[in-house]
This record gives sequence, C-alpha cells and structure tokens, in this order.
Amino acid sequence: MCGIVGYVGHQAAGPILIEGLQRLEYRGYDSSGIAVIDRDGVLDVMKREGKLRDLQAAITRMPNGGTGIGHTRWATHGQPSDRNAHPHASSSGDVIVVQNGIVENYRELRAELQERLDAEGRTWQSETDTEVIPELISREISAGKPLEDAIAYAIGRLRGANAIAVVHRGSPDRMYAARKGSAGGIVIGYGDGEMFLASDLPALLPHTTSVYHLEDGDIAAIDADLVQVRRGGSPTFQPTPTQVDLDPVAIARGPYRHFMLKEIHEQPRALSDTIRGRARLDPASALADDFDLADDTLRGIERVLVIGMGTSLHAAMIGRWWIEQIAGIPADFENASEFRFRAPLLGPSTLVVAVTQSGETIDTLGAMNHVRERWGAPQLVITNVDGSEATRQADASIIIRCGPEVGVASTKTFVGSLAALYLLACRIGHARGQLNEQELTDRLEQLLTAPSLLERGIRQAERCAEIAQVFGGASNFLVLGRGIEYPLAMEAALKCKEISYVHAEGYAAGEMKHGPIALLDQGFPVIALAPRGPLFDKMTSAIQQVRARRAPVIAVGDEGDQELAGLVDHFIGVPPAPPLLTPFSLTPVVQLLAYQLALTRGLDIDQPRNLAKTVTVE
Ligand code: F6R
Repeated sequence: MCGIVGYVGHQAAGPILIEGLQRLEYRGYDSSGIAVIDRDGVLDVMKREGKLRDLQAAITRMPNGGTGIGHTRWATHGQPSDRNAHPHASSSGDVIVVQNGIVENYRELRAELQERLDAEGRTWQSETDTEVIPELISREISAGKPLEDAIAYAIGRLRGANAIAVVHRGSPDRMYAARKGSAGGIVIGYGDGEMFLASDLPALLPHTTSVYHLEDGDIAAIDADLVQVRRGGSPTFQPTPTQVDLDPVAIARGPYRHFMLKEIHEQPRALSDTIRGRARLDPASALADDFDLADDTLRGIERVLVIGMGTSLHAAMIGRWWIEQIAGIPADFENASEFRFRAPLLGPSTLVVAVTQSGETIDTLGAMNHVRERWGAPQLVITNVDGSEATRQADASIIIRCGPEVGVASTKTFVGSLAALYLLACRIGHARGQLNEQELTDRLEQLLTAPSLLERGIRQAERCAEIAQVFGGASNFLVLGRGIEYPLAMEAALKCKEISYVHAEGYAAGEMKHGPIALLDQGFPVIALAPRGPLFDKMTSAIQQVRARRAPVIAVGDEGDQELAGLVDHFIGVPPAPPLLTPFSLTPVVQLLAYQLALTRGLDIDQPRNLAKTVTVE
C-alpha cells in the first residue's frame, strides 16, 4: 500500500527520499514521486508511473534542496499514471502533498473547489482524491490563514482515514505531517540536526532508531532540529521520541534470492522467539507474563471469535480449532471485512481476537471498532508490530516476535500468529480448568517441538522445486485438506494466487464432490494435504475420487508413508506431527510449492502485482 517518506535537514533531500522509498517498496506500489524544495523556495516535483527505477531514470538532475517528501502510490482513485502519482500540488503550485488513505468525500470537495479553479482558469491535474488536499490548504492560505491552521482545517474537512505529508514553498525549512484515523502509521525519525519521516519504520532505521509515532489527530510541524505537535485544541507540545530496537541488518535479504525465501527459512526462529518465555514447563504456564487479560476475565468468557483477513484469516481458522479443542470453549472465526458490516449477537462475554501481522489492516481495525462501539466485548490483538493501531485499539496484545517481514506474502508472521493462538488456547484452557497441570505441560511440550517440525518441513525445498518444474505450466490447482488442514489448503491456494498468479482453490476435501470435482481432468493437478490423523482415511477416499478423474495428485503426507506415496503421482514427506500440530509441519511445504511455482514462472515474488503488504484502504 502507499508509502510516505520525508526529510528536512542539512543533507540533500532527494537521494534520502529515494533510498527511503526503496525501503518501502515491499509494501507494493505502482508509481512513485518526490518533491524537493530548496532554501530559496525553488520546488521540484518529479513523479513516474512504474517502479522506482523508472522515477530514477526520469530524474536527470537531482535537486539539492534540503527539504522534501516522497511517495509510493498504490492506485485507488485513477489508474496508475505519471499524473496520478504523488506528490500532488495545489493549482497555485505552492502547496505539495502526499497522502496514504482515501478521501471519501473527495467528490464533494472537488465540487466545492471547482468554482475557485474555474475562476482562475485552472483545471485538476489528476484523477486522484488526494489533489483536493493541497487545493483546500492553498485556498485557506489565500484567505489569510497561517499554513498550520490551513492544514488543520483541510484535515478537518476530509472524511476517511488519512496520513499526509506537506511542504510549502513559503516554508522551505519545514515539513508537516498529519494523521487522521488509521490509514497506516506515520513516524518521525529524529536525527542529529535533521529529521526523517516515513509511513513505516524500515525506511527510517538506517538513519535513526529514535522515533515518534503520530497519534490519530496529530499535526506535526517538523524542522531540522525541532518537532512540534498539535493535537485537537490542546497547546502545541514537543513529543518525546522513543527508541526502537529493530536491527537494520535484519531487513536485508542476506544470501537468499528473495525475501520470501529468507522469511520461510526464518520461521523456526520466529516461532521460537514468539514462544520464548511464554511456554514454560515446571511448573507449566502459558502466556504467564506480558499478557493483559487476567484469569478472571478469561474465566468469564463464554465464546471466542477470531477475526482477520487473508493469511491472518487462515491463522484465525486454525486458531478456532485450537481454542475449541484445547480450551474447550465455543469458538468461531470470521473474515473481518464481512464481520464489520454485520450485526452479530456478541456480548461482553465474547472475547474477540484480531489477527493482523501489520496491525494496520483497515478491515480488521474496522471490525475492532465495530466490536468496541457496539458491544464493548474484550479484544485481544495478535500482531507483529508493537505500537501499531490495532495494539492501541485492543485491551490486550500478543506481539509475535517475527522481526520485519519484507516479502509481501505473509509467511513467518503466519507461523508467529499460529504460535500465539496456540498459547492463547492453552492459557484460556488452563484458566478455566479445562487443562490440568499435566495436560498443559503436554500441550506446551508439543508446541516446543514446532520449530523442529518447521525446520524439517523446510528441508523439502528441493522436492518442492522438482514438483514445481513438472507443474510450472498448469493454470489451475485444487488444494484439498480436512479438519485442521483445511485452512492450510486455503492458505496454499492463496499463496499460489498471490505470488504465482495461478488460479488455485482451497477446498475442504469433503466438499469436493459437491461441485469442484466437475473441473477435474488430466490437466488439473490436485494438491492433497494428507498427514496421518483422524481424517486420513477420508482424505485417501477423496484422493481416490480425484484419481478416478485422472487428475494428477501431489500428496503431502507423513515421511515414509508408503501407502499414501503409492496412491499418488507425487509425494512430499513431512515429519509426522501430533494431530493438532500439523499446521507447523505442513506450512513450509505449502509456501515452498507456491514459491517454486512462481520461480519457474520468473515472477516478482517479493512484490507481486496489485498487492500490498499493509492494506490500509477498503
Ligand atoms: C497474504 C497476505 C495478506 C494478509 C492480509 C492481512 O500473504 O499477506 O493476505 O494476510 O492482507 O494482513 P494483516 O495480517 O496485516 O492484517
């Protein structure tokens, strides 16, 4: 999704902005641009459709001004094009703005501003919603308002969630940033006689670890050595920056060909880090420290609802299984974007668990808001980003400790979210007396084997590559699973769609004969997730039905399962796992198959087309 960067200081802003945008590339974008202003108020705006390299190629002379803002755009209003790329200028050319989010009432605002443009014989320069923002600011300045008041006024007129950065020709040593609602974050980085701005920490980390996250409603005036924030009607204050301890090296790709591959390999570590200190034995405890829901609250819960989107929704589906089976309490899952527009019957005894690796997904935040406004049910968020909007909205958080995930497709954060959900199920089960000490110990001991299950799953990379070679040309896949493997079948299909651009459907194997079987023939490969477990026989029946339609079958099952291997065309063995732990043994294979398919097709794996890492628009 769109990214914002900014700089004010003693260095030339241009190269710093470009480098910052490079660090935000992983968010996904279709065009980019920068605006740089020098001491004399000379302003250069450069923008291009396409990749950052297209922008760089178009910059024949890098301006040397010391203040600037930049943006990577992910089109919402108006197709990707040079003119729709940010930054956008007011018709007067004085006010320059970049925006993340959506101006929901932009049509109304355009109509209101049209008169002014007509009177001046000017026209809109883009089809974007953003362009109304500099125009509004500029109009207020012309009417005599100080710049800061004009920005506050403009922000107040916008409907929707927006994060913006602004520069003005008349204030060449200052940039402004403002945040309204939760259109992703916006963070100021404090340097030595210079300040940085970004929508995401990775863009700041090479420069500083001293940061201030703008809160909803903040408007910051940022000079090279001073930040002043105004919030609502309160007096202006100088925020105190906090230190972040993210290691810039951790976001480099290292020896891996793609970040996605690196992050798949990091999964055992991400899982170990996430459960460290949270799965204790002798005496057994789950989430004992660093968890804000008291046992009394957990004992009062009658139902758990787990929500999320995309890969996080698939984690939620698996979490539902664990909460039912381990905690012995009714549990459901739901797609947050649907849930937020329903009027389900929740009460204060329902615990809502939001799963969101970014903590900024608009639909998940919207659903959390819906819960708070309508029912006041307790909310817990599972996320990889401490300080994200979701953590601010929730009553309690479990921060998974996966480190920055750069590949757009979620991998290690999926596994981290799973670990958190499993721990949560154990904690609820224990608090409610559903698990005694021994049972809790057994459950936690099993979880402690999960990093090794992941590791052994990752060792199947070569086998996945061989199979991807065979099926690299296939246009469709059906992925089947049952029970706790069904959400993984959906995750496998999602991964295939996202990074391989291949049509894939994840189905509950029992459902196959109710429709999808009509699709099957020799050219329609089926991936069957079939580890030994309570539903193994049902899976093998489904496989037989597939084979009877001559569709090639790739089975993922327990290492050494000769019976299964003999039944199918291709077999991938994963370590046998206890029935509730198969998501950990199967996940790497599911991810690696999609990765290898994308590789055979020569695709842009870390930045798949049309996708964004953080989905901050509806
Ligand atoms: C898939 C993927 C997306 C996200 C979804 C939710 O690989 O990354 O489907 O899972 O956009 O994002 P978060 O978890 O940030 O709420």
